[in-house]
Amino acid sequence: MRVLITGGLGFIGSHVAEYYASRDADVTILDNLSRANQYNLPDKTSLYNLNHLKSNYVNIQFVKGDIRETGDLFEAAKDAEVIFHLASQVAVTSSIKNPRLDFEINALGTFNVLETARKSSTAPIVIYASSNKVYGLNVNKIPVEEKETRYSFASEDFREGIPEDLSIDLCEHTPYGCSKLAGDLYVQDYASVYGLKTGVFRMSCIYGERQFGVEDQGWLAWFTIATVMEKPITIYGDGKQVRDILHVSDLVRVYDAFVRSRHLKSGLFNVGGGLQNTLSLLEALDLIEKYANKKATLSFEEPRLGDQKVYISNIEKARYLLDWRPKIGVNEGLERLVYWVHTNKELFDW
Ligand SMILES: NC(=O)c1ccc[n+]([C@@H]2O[C@H](COP(=O)([O-])OP(=O)(O)OC[C@H]3O[C@@H](n4cnc5c(N)ncnc54)[C@H](O)[C@@H]3O)[C@@H](O)[C@H]2O)c1
Repeated sequence: MRVLITGGLGFIGSHVAEYYASRDADVTILDNLSRANQYNLPDKTSLYNLNHLKSNYVNIQFVKGDIRETGDLFEAAKDAEVIFHLASQVAVTSSIKNPRLDFEINALGTFNVLETARKSSTAPIVIYASSNKVYGLNVNKIPVEEKETRYSFASEDFREGIPEDLSIDLCEHTPYGCSKLAGDLYVQDYASVYGLKTGVFRMSCIYGERQFGVEDQGWLAWFTIATVMEKPITIYGDGKQVRDILHVSDLVRVYDAFVRSRHLKSGLFNVGGGLQNTLSLLEALDLIEKYANKKATLSFEEPRLGDQKVYISNIEKARYLLDWRPKIGVNEGLERLVYWVHTNKELFDW
């Protein structure tokens, strides 16, 4: 199989690359190495994933390029049978500061990927990393009840979490939510209008090894890094916000199940840890402190714009159509993340 991964040096992209390279696929990565720059991280954090992949696999080719440049994409996608489109401006906060840049990377960049696929003679499958943020603050219209360490949905209708048919409009989103939603809709449309096989995955919180989480994005990895490295953590809100968390290896498995599915021409799935794998921020910190054997230093600020109080993915559709379920539970996944940070402390001396 020949695979192109945009954003393949990022957290999720590097795991997709490893999964396919270890199964003898020819993997091309297109990435502009912008994450370190965007979050003022040292270059060694960008190069870490590249070095890891290069030193373990000969069948991975890296192309430095930008999804806003159609020439870069066209060249990298020449023979691709599957395109995993993971390159993105990834933070809500940055999208509010610079909505044009967010639009250009997420909406126009996704459009460029789709046009590249449409014009390709190989008619590649396109996998799109969408987000729970496409539902915007419609999620906060669901009544919640406050418990000791967390909020939970008070409505029976959402007992299993948020399904794919929750309304995506008539609410506030933030620019990131809008640009991811624009990409999401275009990807769905390129299946129905142009006959491409496309998969849209609306992902909640993905976490795992090789994730350089920062305060603005990748909160679980950030909490882990900060706790292990004894840096202060600011919690926006009261910390009772709840997310379902999914280990990155389980995410890659659901992508692959869709790629291999013969019965599905296109698909739209909410994916996350589901009801079995939920945590509030406060509960996550308790577990991280336990595995790191350290106490986190916390302060509290007002909630951030666009923050959902409870988001839990209803993963029934992926379970039923793709015969998939998460394998790595909260405890195992967090212990692994803490171990990775603990054994790579030299990467986090910023
Ligand atoms: N991590 C999560 O919890 C999560 C949740 C929902 C959705 N997503 C989506 O998953 C995808 C991957 O996220 P991630 O956590 O791996 O983020 P990441 O920041 O680790 O990876 C993104 C990669 O894209 C690259 N990139 C950014 N702009 C680019 C451009 N213009 N051209 C080429 N490369 C560019 C960056 O250098 C980086 O390596 C994104 O689309 C994100 O919106 C992630």
